[in-house]
Amino acid sequence: MPKKQVHLAAHFPGVNNTTVWSHPDAGSHIEFSSFAHLARTAERAKFDFFFLAEGLRLREQAGKIYDLDVVGRPDTFTVLSALAAVTERLGLAGTINSTFNEPYEVARQFSTLDHLSGGRAAWNVVTSWDAFTGENFRRGGFLPQEQRYERAKRFLDAATVLFDSWRDGGEFAYRDEHFDISGRFDLPRSPQGRPVILQAGDSDEGREFAAAKADAIFSRHAGLEEGRAFHADVKGRLAKYGRRPEDLVVLPAATFALADTDAEAHELAHEVRRQQVSGQTAIKVLEQLWNADLSDHDPDGPLPSFDPVVGGDHIAQGRASVRMHRDPIAVATKWRELAEAKKLSIRELVIETSAKQTFIGSPSTIAGQIDDLVQADAADGFILVPHVTPVGLDDFADRVVPLLQERGVFRTEYTGPTLRDHLGLAPL
Ligand SMILES: Cc1cc2nc3c(=O)[nH]c(=O)nc-3n(C[C@H](O)[C@H](O)[C@H](O)COP(=O)(O)O)c2cc1C
Repeated sequence: MPKKQVHLAAHFPGVNNTTVWSHPDAGSHIEFSSFAHLARTAERAKFDFFFLAEGLRLREQAGKIYDLDVVGRPDTFTVLSALAAVTERLGLAGTINSTFNEPYEVARQFSTLDHLSGGRAAWNVVTSWDAFTGENFRRGGFLPQEQRYERAKRFLDAATVLFDSWRDGGEFAYRDEHFDISGRFDLPRSPQGRPVILQAGDSDEGREFAAAKADAIFSRHAGLEEGRAFHADVKGRLAKYGRRPEDLVVLPAATFALADTDAEAHELAHEVRRQQVSGQTAIKVLEQLWNADLSDHDPDGPLPSFDPVVGGDHIAQGRASVRMHRDPIAVATKWRELAEAKKLSIRELVIETSAKQTFIGSPSTIAGQIDDLVQADAADGFILVPHVTPVGLDDFADRVVPLLQERGVFRTEYTGPTLRDHLGLAPL
């Protein structure tokens, strides 16, 4: 049987503590030259697409702007349109929220991007709904959490009516409990027909939404066992929507520490983790679980003696990851046990419990790890998140990609003009 082909995408390092802003080569995360550098590197390496995450309000903690992750994020469509002019084949994926926007506006923007780029647009439909972010849109709290996918589905249905409206000379009408729109869409059919649809939520509803509507799914599950379980779960949901396993491409986020030898890569990985989790960052991360001001605690000292505060307003605003702490007391108990067993300080514990690099090793080790995971159906490829902006992908492009190509699992040239072609998706 021929080997599965690997899909690769480049995540522009976002506003998060994965990025090592103190690195001597770290550049601006706002200037166009940074976006252009990463996109050109990804295109030189024949990646499927370039990916932008989205955060619609600066994060705050204890009422202050959370500036440890570097603040400020330029507008997605403007950046991707500019990148369309300096790349030729690379897909351009933007994360755009379905809670705070309107279908007509978003459909026009993606249709325009697909036209400008000659069929390279992708839309990562996210459903973050928090009232704090909503305040930017004068709609604080208007959408209960349980309605986020209901609105997302309707939003995408409405946008699809708009994308397909060329069949009726642009005329459209769409009405449900969320939207009531009609008129004439002002753009002809775009090269791909519609943007490629990505989905990134991890809940049961999120996975179902992906199975029903998405072309690719961005996940958090990159390891062998968790990856295989996730891959089987989402692919298993496709049949009831009349879809085949190859209609949904599974792409976990992945980080890497690459060096000449495996031993050097492990040293680098350790050093990068220490830079990502400074003493200050460790206290802030702990505050997110404890939901309390811990600024008087020493990052090199022990965990707080009291339990996390449950309920009430959360100390951290605008940060999706805090929602993962569904049972803070249970997590804190586990962390205490771990800290005691391994004699860890607060900072060491945060390093221990937060995500390590997905791939660590020499170029041949990393190429082998990627190939093995894809062949084992733990993933169909990866969205790589480099830890240095904008040069963090350069070595990977120069040293790992040629080895994947030698293994016969990664393209040496683009075979078609559109992102659907790169992802192996049938044309619409
Ligand atoms: C790997 C990953 C990355 C994500 N990145 C973003 C992002 O940049 N912006 C955003 O608003 N939502 C992002 N989300 C998605 C939201 O978390 C999601 O749409 C929302 O929280 C509801 O989804 P859920 O409850 O199904 O997880 C991401 C999710 C995952 C799994």
